Amino acid sequence: MLISGRGSNMKALIEAARQPGYPAEIALVLSNRADAAGLAAAAAAGLATRVVPHRNFPDRAAFDAALDAALREAGVDLVCLAGFMRLLTPGFVADWRDRMINIHPSLLPAFPGLDTHARALAAGVRFTGCTVHYVRAEMDSGPIIAQAAVPVAPGDTPDTLAARVLAAEHRLYPLALRLVAAGQVRVEGEHAMIEGHRAPAGPILNPLEPG
Ligand code: GRF
Repeated sequence: MLISGRGSNMKALIEAARQPGYPAEIALVLSNRADAAGLAAAAAAGLATRVVPHRNFPDRAAFDAALDAALREAGVDLVCLAGFMRLLTPGFVADWRDRMINIHPSLLPAFPGLDTHARALAAGVRFTGCTVHYVRAEMDSGPIIAQAAVPVAPGDTPDTLAARVLAAEHRLYPLALRLVAAGQVRVEGEHAMIEGHRAPAGPILNPLEPG
């Protein structure tokens, strides 16, 4: 798992991986920042942690080579980005193609990048949400594995909306990782196809229909 900050999604994945029968095991939590709060939480959970400070490297390619070496040394099969705030080079992304997933707090392809909640509010959308996707070289792009829709409430601020979306992220990421780790997801023509998992049918309205 690659993190840069508080690591609340990381904690949700740690919690999930503790459950009996969960098909993934966390081999390493790696951060580009020594002060990432999530590192201490990972260490407290008894996980291997490592810091690879991006500032120690002359360019992105050198940093990514160090990341790659650390991941391979730890025997990693699948990389989960969880609030990892560095852009990865196309070479690194290609090496981990379909073996690296990310969570983003919007219904991609809407609102990639930063300040997603403020932009969702400015656009006046009735729903936003979060997306787990395979990583491609362009920021916040790649085959969509799973999404959660979250209603925008009257009076929402970016912070209140972010908190509602974050709660959904903590449910979505463990579900998506479970599907990927169990081999239930394959990428075909840049679409993620899921086997053995049925989505509920029918629309959800926001505002709700008058009761
Ligand atoms: C989350 O909103 C995630 O979707 C985004 O960065 C934030 C990380 O939060 N990529 P945390 O470190 O997991 O608490």
